[in-house]
Order: sequence, then structure tokens, then C-alpha cells
Amino acid sequence: MMKDDIRQVLFTHEEIQRRVSELAKEIEEDYKNLEGDIYCVGILKGAVVFYTDLVCRIGLPVRFDFMIASSYGNATKSSGMVRILKDLDFDITGCHVIVVEDIIDSGTTMEYLKKYLQNRKAASVRLCSFLSKPSRRRVDVDIDYCGFEVPDEFLVGYGLDYAGLYRNLPYIGVLKREIYEK
Ligand code: IMP
Ligand code: MG
Repeated sequence: MMKDDIRQVLFTHEEIQRRVSELAKEIEEDYKNLEGDIYCVGILKGAVVFYTDLVCRIGLPVRFDFMIASSYGNATKSSGMVRILKDLDFDITGCHVIVVEDIIDSGTTMEYLKKYLQNRKAASVRLCSFLSKPSRRRVDVDIDYCGFEVPDEFLVGYGLDYAGLYRNLPYIGVLKREIYEK
């Protein structure tokens, strides 16, 4: 069973839903009087679960797009180099882009993506990340909307994976060390 591999539940499904609603309301307030299209850009695959919950609670017209970015490294530590494996499908010139990410760890992936999107002449680029691990930051990244700050533990669920699994757990859990250290 997936749940046997979890040492502790950090955020229950109910806590997550409450927080996601708050983030969506904040975004709605901030964007409701802006001119120009709003593009929610989800970073596949980790952000998918958060993305769908979030966008359904934003009471404004938004457009969907997705990117795949990969930072080189092994399964639990990233290395600092970023590669774009799937780019945007649309031209975002003059648009308001909200990047939706699962977790900001070292910050390398997001620093790279934010610069990349700003160079595409978006009217604005903001970042909404479900989780942030401030103690692991190696480059400064402004998170405009952050769900929760978390300690330096390996987390899974609600989109976050270890070796491709656990993404469909409906809560955020700490993965037992013996799972990824074996
Ligand atoms: P960064 O470039 O170091 O900020 O890496 C961010 C990416 O690392 C996230 O999008 C996740 O894919 C992955 N990541 C970082 N911490 C965790 C974790 O605790 N569980 C699962 N994935 C993580
Ligand atoms: Mg990711």
C-alpha cells in the first residue's frame, strides 16, 4: 500500500483544499481589474493536481498552457541545469502569466523559467507555488503566491512524486527514508 511508505502526513486533503481556495481568491482579487489575457502555465507533471484545483476556484477567465522542464540530477536532488522539454503552445506577448508549480526547492528551475517567460514579452509573470522549502534555496526566487512553507524532507503526494509514484495521494506526506535510501 502507498500509505505504508509515508512516515507522516504534513497536510491533509482538507487543509490543502482550504489553502488552495485562499490562494485562488487572492489571485482573483489581484487580477480582476487587469487588462489582457491571463495564462495559467502549469509545470508538468508535478503541478497538475494543484493546477486543476486552483484554476477551478479562480472566478476569472483564464487560458491554460503547460511546460515541461527538467533539472538534471537524480531523483531526490537537483543539479542546477535546466532543460525545457515542452515549450508553450501560445504566444504570451502582452499577457499576464501565472506560473503554477508544485514546489520550489533550490529555486534553479523557477529562476530559469521566470527569466525565460519574461523574455517572451509577457505583460507580467508571477509565480504561484504550492510548496516552498526555504532552507534549501540556492538562488533567490520571489514566490508571489505560496501555499505552505515546508521543512527539508522528501515529500510526496498531491502531484509530487518519488521515481514517478505517489503523485495521486490526496495529501502531502513525508516519504520514509528507507524508501529512497535503499
Ligand atoms: P528546484 O529547481 O531545486 O527548485 O527543484 C524543484 C523541483 O524539484 C520540483 O518541481 C520537484 O519536481 C522537485 N522536488 C523538490 N523537492 C521535492 C520533494 O520534496 N518531493 C518531490 N519532488 C521534489
Ligand atoms: Mg517539478
